Formats: sequence, C-alpha cells, structure tokens
Amino acid sequence: MAPLQALLLSTATVFSVVSAQPRFDFVRNNQVENSLRARAPNSSAIPIKATPAGAAGPVLDSFVTFSIELAFFPDFAGNKSHPNTFSDNLLNNLKDLQGTKPYIRVGGNTQDYALYDANLTTATRGVYIPSISLDYPRQLWIGPSFFESYNTWPGTKFIHGFNLAINGSTAITSTESIVPLACKALSNDNFLYWEMGNEPDLFKTSAQGIMRPKSWNEKDFAREWTGWVERVKKVVWEKCGEEWQDEEKFKWIAPSFAGTTNSLDAVKSWQAGLNKSKDIALFSSHNYIGGATQPGVTLANTLLNHTKTMLSVRDHTKEQKALKSVGMNLPYILGETNSLYNQGKPGLSNSFGAALWGLDFNLYCAATDIKRVHMHMGSNFRYASWQPVETNRTTMGTKAPYYGNIAVAASLGGSAEGDVRVQHVSLEKVTEAAYAVYKGEVLRRVVVVNMVQYNTSSTNPSTSTSTTATRGEETYTFSLPPSCAGRGVVQRLMANGSDAVTGITFNGYSYNYELDNGKPVLLGNVTRDEAVPVKRDGELEVRVPWSSAAVVQLEC
Ligand SMILES: *[C@@H]1O[C@H](CO)[C@@H](O)[C@H](O)[C@H]1NC(C)=O
Ligand SMILES: *[C@@H]1O[C@H](CO)[C@@H](O)[C@H](O)[C@H]1NC(C)=O
Ligand SMILES: *[C@@H]1O[C@H](CO)[C@@H](O)[C@H](O)[C@H]1NC(C)=O
Ligand SMILES: *[C@@H]1O[C@H](CO)[C@@H](O)[C@H](O)[C@H]1NC(C)=O
Ligand SMILES: *[C@@H]1O[C@H](CO)[C@@H](O)[C@H](O)[C@H]1NC(C)=O
Ligand SMILES: *[C@@H]1O[C@H](CO)[C@@H](O)[C@H](O)[C@H]1NC(C)=O
Ligand SMILES: *[C@@H]1O[C@H](CO)[C@@H](O)[C@H](O)[C@H]1NC(C)=O
Ligand SMILES: *[C@@H]1O[C@H](CO)[C@@H](O)[C@H](O)[C@H]1NC(C)=O
Ligand SMILES: *[C@@H]1O[C@H](CO)[C@@H](O)[C@H](O)[C@H]1NC(C)=O
Ligand SMILES: *[C@@H]1O[C@H](CO)[C@@H](O)[C@H](O)[C@H]1NC(C)=O
Repeated sequence: MAPLQALLLSTATVFSVVSAQPRFDFVRNNQVENSLRARAPNSSAIPIKATPAGAAGPVLDSFVTFSIELAFFPDFAGNKSHPNTFSDNLLNNLKDLQGTKPYIRVGGNTQDYALYDANLTTATRGVYIPSISLDYPRQLWIGPSFFESYNTWPGTKFIHGFNLAINGSTAITSTESIVPLACKALSNDNFLYWEMGNEPDLFKTSAQGIMRPKSWNEKDFAREWTGWVERVKKVVWEKCGEEWQDEEKFKWIAPSFAGTTNSLDAVKSWQAGLNKSKDIALFSSHNYIGGATQPGVTLANTLLNHTKTMLSVRDHTKEQKALKSVGMNLPYILGETNSLYNQGKPGLSNSFGAALWGLDFNLYCAATDIKRVHMHMGSNFRYASWQPVETNRTTMGTKAPYYGNIAVAASLGGSAEGDVRVQHVSLEKVTEAAYAVYKGEVLRRVVVVNMVQYNTSSTNPSTSTSTTATRGEETYTFSLPPSCAGRGVVQRLMANGSDAVTGITFNGYSYNYELDNGKPVLLGNVTRDEAVPVKRDGELEVRVPWSSAAVVQLEC
C-alpha cells in the first residue's frame, strides 16, 4: 500500500488521535483562538455546498486512465521475458489512490496503420516517413509477440484498437488474424472493450494521409463501422472459445472522433446507424486543448488558462446534450486526450505547468459529466506521463504530467467504490480553479489550482529576467458546511515553478524512476499533510503559492 492510500484509509484514526491532544497545535495560537470563538460567517468567503446537488453525475471507476499509442505499447508494457516494472509501479501508485488500476486503451493514429505480420520476430516493425512525422511510424506491422504486452501488468484491463482506415483485402486478412491473438492475450480477466478505428472524423482531411474520399459521410462511416464490428464478431465467435461467445462481453467504445467540429458529426453518425448497435458500451470522444505548433500557444495563454480549459471541455458538454436529445444515453468518456496535439510542445507539455493543467482539465471533465479520461502517450511524446524506455531522444523516467495524474486520483479518492461526484467552484480569475469533491452525499475534498505563472528561473537571481523574484501566493477562504469543522489535511502538488521539469512532488512524495523505480519515495525537503483548521462555522483558509495546487482532505 502506498503511503498516500494509508493516509486516506486512516484519516478516521488520525482524527480521533488528534482530538485527544491539544487541538491545532500545528497552527499559530491566534488562529486557534479564532477557531474556538463563535463568530459571524465571512460573507465574502467562497461557498462550498454541503451536498452534491447540482454536481455532475458520479464518475466511473478508474477515472484516471491512459491511452497508449499502439506502436509504443511494447515499450510501455515490455514483454513476457522483460516486463516493464517501472510502468507497472506507476500504475500501482494510481491504484493505491483510486482503488483500481488505470485502464489502458491501446490505440491512436498507429492503430489505423497496424497490419499483422505472422513472420515478424519482433513485436513491431515501423517505417517512419519524416515528412509526415518523426514521432511515430506511418507504416506499422505487428507480430505475434506484440500480444505478450497484454500480460505484463497484473490486474490491468485493456481496450484493443483495430484498424478501420486501411480497408482492402490485406486489412481483412490482418484483422481476422489479429482477433484470435488479441482475445487469447485478453483472456486473463484483462479485457475491457474493443475499439474500431481512431478519429475517423479526420479520415478525409488528415495531414498524416487522406484515407477516404471527400464524399464519405456519416452513413458511410456507420455502415463501415458496423460491417467491421460484425466481421470481428464472427471471428470472435468462431475462434476465441466459449467464454467469448457472450453479447455482454462483446462491447466497444465508439466513435472515437478527434473532436466535436471535424468532418463527421457525432449526432448524425449516431443516428446513421451507430444507435442500432447494441455493442457500444461507452461513447468515446477525443480532445486536445490546442496544438503544439499553433502560434500563440504558451503556458500562460493556453495550459495555465482556466477559461481555455472550460471552453474546450464545453464543446463536449454541447455534444453530450445534443446526443442525449437523440436518445444516446451511454456514459460519455474521453478515450484519448492530452494537452497539445502533435505529441505536445517541448517546455510546455512536459513541464510542471502541464501537471497543473492536467489536474484542472481532468477535474473540469469530471465536473461536466465526462465519466473517464484516458490521457494519451507514446515513447518520446512531450506530453507523456512517463518515458518507459531510454531512447536517444528522451530519458527514461517519470515526467511532470504524471504528478498531475496522481493529484487527480488523490482528489477523487476511491472512485472504484462509486458515487464520487465533482462540483466546479467558480473563482474570479482565469489563472485559478477550484472544485468540491463529494462521496455520496458528503463533501470529502476541496481542490484549488493556482495557475499564476512562476518560473523556476525567478528563484535564481543570476538567470532571472523577471522583476519579481519572490513567489507570491493566494489565500482562499472557503465557507464549508459546519459539519466539516475540525481539521483539514492539505496535500500539495508542488515544484519550483511552472517551467520545472524535475523536482516535482505530490504531498511530499516523488515517484521518480531514479529513486525507486517509480515507487513513492518521501522527500525530506517538502512539506506534506499540512493540517489546517476548519473553524466551527465551517470557514477554511488555504494558502496556495503561484503555480501549485492544494488538495484539502476533509472529514465532514
Ligand atoms: C473573508 O474572506 C476573504 C476572501 O474571500 C478574505 O480576504 C478575508 O480575509 C476573510 N475575512 C476574515 C475576517 O477572515
Ligand atoms: C511469411 O513466411 C511465409 C513462409 O516463408 C511466406 O509464405 C509468407 O508470405 C510470409 N508472410 C509475410 C506477410 O511476409
Ligand atoms: C522482449 O523485450 C526485449 C527487451 O526489449 C527484447 O530484447 C526481446 O527481443 C523481446 N522479445 C520478443 C519476443 O519480442
Ligand atoms: C473502403 O473505403 C471505400 C472508400 O474509400 C468505401 O467505398 C468502401 O465501401 C470501403 N470498404 C469497406 C469494406 O469498408
Ligand atoms: C436511429 O436513429 C434514426 C434516425 O433518428 C431512427 O430512424 C432509428 O429508428 C434509430 N434507431 C434506433 C435503434 O434507435
Ligand atoms: C485564456 O483563454 C481565453 C479563451 O481562449 C482567451 O480569450 C484569453 O485571452 C486567454 N487568457 C490569457 C491570459 O491568455
Ligand atoms: C536514434 O534512434 C533511432 C531509433 O533507434 C535511430 O533510427 C536514429 O538513427 C538515432 N538517432 C541518432 C541521432 O542517433
Ligand atoms: C516565464 O518564462 C516564460 C518563458 O521564458 C516567459 O515568457 C514569461 O514571461 C516568464 N514569466 C514570468 C512571470 O517571469
Ligand atoms: C528547487 O529550489 C531549491 C531551492 O532554491 C533548490 O535547492 C533545488 O535544487 C531546486 N530544484 C530543482 C529541481 O531545480
Ligand atoms: C528536494 O530534494 C530532491 C532530491 O534530493 C531534489 O531533487 C529537489 O530539487 C529538492 N526540492 C527542493 C524544493 O528543494
């Protein structure tokens, strides 16, 4: 059990122990005095509701999940003889917080390039086309040993993505060969869903290669999708064994569109025939907040901008509403998402600022009825939560965005137990965000993200270009239900600045590769579990330094 989980599980004990001692011996005495004196509620405090009335519906289990670019799945997971234990440790850390291991969608652009080659002695063979991308192979073959990677992470469930883009006889042979291998590899209580195609709404326009004619429409997509699903079904029933001949198990995520405004419309696709399929379990869409090479994309303008995050997520809220109005009532998830498309921008997507963005983005999703979020990654991708192997481009290790994943899991707590609901709390500035997290009817946590940009260079006067070298902070005063009176425990997502790519911690723990292969290691130089008083009337004051976040664990 990771120490964080130990803390969460033992809060009740901790509380009864401290109440037997002088209360709040950890804060200045005048604060203790104030807390004990009856006083009028602070009318300018930010109100937090006692119950989740008005919050989004409960998130699904394993809210913090990943999507791994298919071509790089063997790097992340390893194989039978060389399982990647570093990756497994990082997944287990999240399990310790959220109760279940992250689910892994194996897909992305390369899912639509992958063809089976029975003769391949390696897991994959990729051909890079530099004019298209240096980040992933534009042609890809996978061999029998590719499927070993589905069994290296105990207790992890997977979504396997099939190709939809390539559609000739080679593709048919390939898919028909892959199905029995995939279901065999996924027979160890590790199957979640299937997926047919990645971002078909870009098939007509993609810079990575046009895969369908201009005339291709929602009806064509729905017909092809259904045809391929039927083809897979036939092979599953014929070749996978009795345990797979089960309509309940034959489930898909779809339609996996890149966004809400591309060349296919989700509502029209739903009505064009996806609604006839009884095989879809979750409605999956994708999102990126911006593009890596878009002009004007910076930390301050883009990732540390709560308005930007809200606007981006609200497109999905609109789509969800429109889908509901035509009878789509499946849970809506983001099956692939991250900060900046084209694998992220160096200095932004791999910085601590991206960890703060990830916390804000994920909680805003949870607050708007997006039920699960698969953070996408691949080897050498700038926005990856970790680099699973050493390459000549990227050092193996835990990257800044992972700390954002940890903070999300700590914010939601044991979502596996069900009924965790998130309420967005409106704050004034574009650089700040707050959330209230409920378990059942009870307020359990308040989360504050302070996204005022503070550069690590500012801490070093010799390299500072900034006029203010001191790191400011904001004090947030919340008015909680009086039932929360007592104490809160503050867990901080912290680093030296938003541009930091190392030295990042959550609640005093590092998960860095070089310390203990990704297992939590408590650092001596960072505060953890700071106690803050919740006064009798429910008032809570939390200080949050620029470019950091605070998760306040409450007993209400
Ligand atoms: C009341 O809350 C505001 C912020 O909302 C804070 O600035 C102020 O200090 C608080 N007043 C007291 C008396 O705590
Ligand atoms: C695999 O090897 C067999 C036997 O050498 C050959 O007939 C077949 O064409 C090869 N398949 C591929 C995809 O290269
Ligand atoms: C398993 O992974 C190791 C390390 O990457 C590699 O050397 C080996 O060839 C792989 N085995 C197979 C069967 O692909
Ligand atoms: C393959 O794609 C073409 C359009 O490019 C379409 O006309 C055809 O129906 C597709 N075939 C299958 C089997 O999906
Ligand atoms: C799917 O939507 C179309 C168009 O609204 C409708 O005609 C059809 O009955 C729907 N099918 C199902 C199974 O709901
Ligand atoms: C934040 O994003 C919004 C929406 O894109 C934009 O209008 C605003 O100018 C941005 N603010 C900053 C400080 O970049
Ligand atoms: C980096 O590694 C790749 C893949 O192994 C290789 O193709 C490439 O030539 C290497 N680049 C350099 C600069 O060594
Ligand atoms: C932080 O660094 C970035 C990139 O160098 C710069 O654009 C920004 O103005 C700096 N911000 C502060 C507050 O120093
Ligand atoms: C963070 O700042 C502290 C204090 O200035 C310094 O000792 C430490 O080396 C810095 N960490 C990183 C990763 O830059
Ligand atoms: C804390 O210690 C770690 C490990 O020695 C170091 O990397 C990090 O920069 C330190 N952090 C601060 C804020 O001093």
